Amino acid sequence: MIRLLGLHKSFPRQTDEQSSGHSLSVSDFEIQAGERVALVGASGSGKTTLLNLMSGLILPDQGSVEVDGVDITQLKESARDRFRARTIGYLFQTSHLLPGFSALENVELGASFAGRAVDRDRAKSLLDAVGLGHRHHHQPQQLSVGQQSRVALARALVNRPKVVLADEPTGALDPESGKAALKLLLDTAGEENITVICATHDAGVASVLDRTVRVEELQ
Ligand SMILES: Nc1ncnc2c1ncn2[C@@H]1O[C@H](COP(=O)(O)OP(=O)(O)OP(=O)(O)O)[C@@H](O)[C@H]1O
Ligand SMILES: [Mg+2]
Repeated sequence: MIRLLGLHKSFPRQTDEQSSGHSLSVSDFEIQAGERVALVGASGSGKTTLLNLMSGLILPDQGSVEVDGVDITQLKESARDRFRARTIGYLFQTSHLLPGFSALENVELGASFAGRAVDRDRAKSLLDAVGLGHRHHHQPQQLSVGQQSRVALARALVNRPKVVLADEPTGALDPESGKAALKLLLDTAGEENITVICATHDAGVASVLDRTVRVEELQ
């Protein structure tokens, strides 16, 4: 489902930085359809960067990123955006909800970006499933950070993606709601054969996934 081959990405040194900047290399990393993979590694090792590369939000300097049979590095920006909206549910490390729209509207926007009809029933049932049945009409600023991250989870799933890229999905949640969010993600992934890649510092999260990959070992 996903294959990174001969990948290299470097970030130039910032003017105020003493170090030489950061670079990330991946020789050959493959994830099968339906697999649930934990991506672990020290802070700053490149987990978010890898998820960004897999989603085509950033491009590598060298190498290919194949998702569902398509090398997304070869697509024009507009085609890559469309491909991402249709194929990938992205759960950012910070929720990135749109202010001024309700929780339900934020979830529904996930579907409309992909140019699909909005499935309001699915949006509502996902919000109910993350324990926000009573918060459909609250705007992000009226929600706690943990509640916002649960809205973001519902948004990542609303579109029936083939792949979910989740960046610390339980980072902002208490243990109880973290477990519930993870259960929703994995149950939905199991029912709909969604491939899940989850960057996490949480050993409890990694332990319920199929496989753990250390960023430092991908070189
Ligand atoms: N746009 C950018 N410009 C310059 N450097 C960047 C950029 N994005 C990331 N980096 C650098 O790349 C490295 C990896 O960052 P990344 O966010 O991928 O780490 P991470 O493993 O997700 O860390 P964390 O666990 O703290 O979220 C860091 O050293 C970071 O400073
Ligand atoms: Mg990160």
